[in-house]
Amino acid sequence: MIGTTEGSSFLASDVPAILKFTRQVYYIDNLQVGRIRPGEVLFYDLNGDEVQLPLTEITWDTAAAEKDGYEHFMLKEIHEQPRAVRDTLNSLIRDGAVDLSGAGLTDDILRSIRRIDMVACGSAWHVSVAAQYVIEDLAGLPVRVELASEYRYRRIPSSPDTLVIVISQSGETADSLAALRVAKERGALTLAVVNVIGSTIAREADHTLYTLAGPEIAVATTKAYSAQLIAMDALAVRLALVRGAITEEKCAELITALQAIPDQISRVLEEKQRLQWFSSKIVNTHDIFFIGRGLDYAISLEGSLKMKEISYIHSEAYAAGELKHGTISLIEHNTLVIGVLTQGSLFEKTLSNMLECKSRGAYLMGLTTNGNFSVEDSVNFTVYVPKTDEHFIASVAIVPLQLLGYYTSVNRGLDVDKPRNLAKSVTVE
Ligand code: AGP
Repeated sequence: MIGTTEGSSFLASDVPAILKFTRQVYYIDNLQVGRIRPGEVLFYDLNGDEVQLPLTEITWDTAAAEKDGYEHFMLKEIHEQPRAVRDTLNSLIRDGAVDLSGAGLTDDILRSIRRIDMVACGSAWHVSVAAQYVIEDLAGLPVRVELASEYRYRRIPSSPDTLVIVISQSGETADSLAALRVAKERGALTLAVVNVIGSTIAREADHTLYTLAGPEIAVATTKAYSAQLIAMDALAVRLALVRGAITEEKCAELITALQAIPDQISRVLEEKQRLQWFSSKIVNTHDIFFIGRGLDYAISLEGSLKMKEISYIHSEAYAAGELKHGTISLIEHNTLVIGVLTQGSLFEKTLSNMLECKSRGAYLMGLTTNGNFSVEDSVNFTVYVPKTDEHFIASVAIVPLQLLGYYTSVNRGLDVDKPRNLAKSVTVE
């Protein structure tokens, strides 16, 4: 993007870098040229003809891009999740119903879809894995999930009744942008779920649904992840209703459950000292396994990434039922195994997998919902989160795992907000 003020001009890849200089920016497109002089910029196409670009006013407040008294941006952004989730949800609910007209997704379009392909990277891919379970279960639509960096190598037949959803906080991730372009070439309808307004992915998709998490500065995403989750949950509810998969009454129940999520996240944040204490016990751990089934596996994926990307402790997320097919050979005395146990119907099976690890020397942490106290007969440390509709619990259950990763990184004296080797927006392939 290019910003201008009286007598100065600025170039930046993202909003926070330019905010202290100007709020007036131009988003330059591919195959365009900017001729920059102090206080003035002209744009041309490749034929040399001048083109006019709209001037965008950045509305973020500066405080939102500052730490507000928190030690790190990541801790601030973890605590902003109730607001980020509430704002995103409120932008999608009108008169008690999910309303996606802001993204141009009419009910006719939603009814016309035969398959959904979800394409993203990193935590956004983890949101896609979670959304797959929710959409398939509520709306009965087949959903494929692909890593953006792999999608382009798949010869997946697409058509206008295939909806390709690209989730991206920055809206600039090169792999995700490349996948979006491939999806459009293949004739699919495309939806971008993006946090940065006016970003490239947002501008190139057929439809765009903005998450309202506000500026996310820490490299490790937290509030954008939660906002993406709730946006996909709302999409799943709308899809289910317009396709006749749920009744109006069920829809109203689900929306009520969604609207309770922000307060449930707040309640988890009130217990953060337990995670701070436990992180001091695991600060020298070498290997951590996060395991779960179904949505709990999707939550494990994000919990593991949070841990390894900011604490540099090796960590893997594993489908709990898959461990016995080889990887369990890595379990030895004191290996930490964190079992995610929020899905009632899968609780016993995952607990059994955790006990298989315990019999091989593992140290167990259980993450489950209030009331499942029997888990304490089996595990060494338990974290409870409020009960909610199990489709939507990822936004709540992820918070203890975000805090665990955060405090472990702090205890290891690492740069939490800017971990080594990483960038906030991966604009290279
Ligand atoms: C998550 O904590 C990482 N920062 C990274 O995995 C990130 O989710 C991924 O690079 C995708 O970024 P995007 O959402 O901006 O496309």
